Amino acid sequence: MRVSKDMADSPIPEPWSDFIEGSVYPDNAVPWRHDAAYTTILEHPGLRDSIGSHVASALRQAIGLVQAMAQVNVLDVVCSHRPAVGLSLGFGSNAQEPYDLLKTFELDCVHAYEWIGEHIIEAAKAFEMLRAGDPRLTTRIRLHHGTVSDLSALNTSSIHLIYTANMFNREIPMSEDTFERSMQEIVRLLAPRGCLISRGSAGVLEQSLARYFHVLLENPLVSVLQKEPVPAGSE
Ligand SMILES: C[S@@+](CC[C@H](N)C(=O)[O-])C[C@H]1O[C@@H](n2cnc3c(N)ncnc32)[C@H](O)[C@@H]1O
Repeated sequence: MRVSKDMADSPIPEPWSDFIEGSVYPDNAVPWRHDAAYTTILEHPGLRDSIGSHVASALRQAIGLVQAMAQVNVLDVVCSHRPAVGLSLGFGSNAQEPYDLLKTFELDCVHAYEWIGEHIIEAAKAFEMLRAGDPRLTTRIRLHHGTVSDLSALNTSSIHLIYTANMFNREIPMSEDTFERSMQEIVRLLAPRGCLISRGSAGVLEQSLARYFHVLLENPLVSVLQKEPVPAGSE
């Protein structure tokens, strides 16, 4: 990865930078700097506070509720693929999100996107502290400094599970264009029968994705959606 000059403390790459895929840009030189929502969120750290803590217990609860109400075992669905790959969107100051996703679903790899550079670096430093106990962790968690409306670093149908919390809702500023492109990227990336777990999205994401997804669970706190398989003959 490349850390741009004003973010790097030393010319020698820090070991934690192994967790980062691609560049970390200075705040004022990010490719998405003209997105007004970015400027607002950058100026108001309260908009990216971690409000979705206790991720592992929330994931286990969602798995249990889907099993009870829809008779679908999300763990089996996701892990029937190997490698099983996850994607965490907008983790903010909560580096626990990609980590708990990796561990709870025993995934092979999790890609994690966040557009505020300081959170990418904080997360990389946190994961570096866990590296001694899991030397392969740098290949299993890949951090991307990027906007969720451009996930072009990832291949179509390459993701089996997406997790997002408290980002696609009316409190967090997001332009219509960013929202629409993000929804297209989610649809593009999820493999057929892949799942999306969304906490705190207040219905907006669910409505937008309804034509591509089967709803396994929907309540005000958490939704679990499963991508419809591609009809036979149209692949
Ligand atoms: C309220 S915080 C939620 C953080 C974490 N998911 C949680 O629940 O604790 C919303 C996060 O989404 C990020 N975000 C918003 N729009 C984004 C975008 N277009 N691309 C990447 N991250 C974005 C913000 O920077 C912020 O960190």
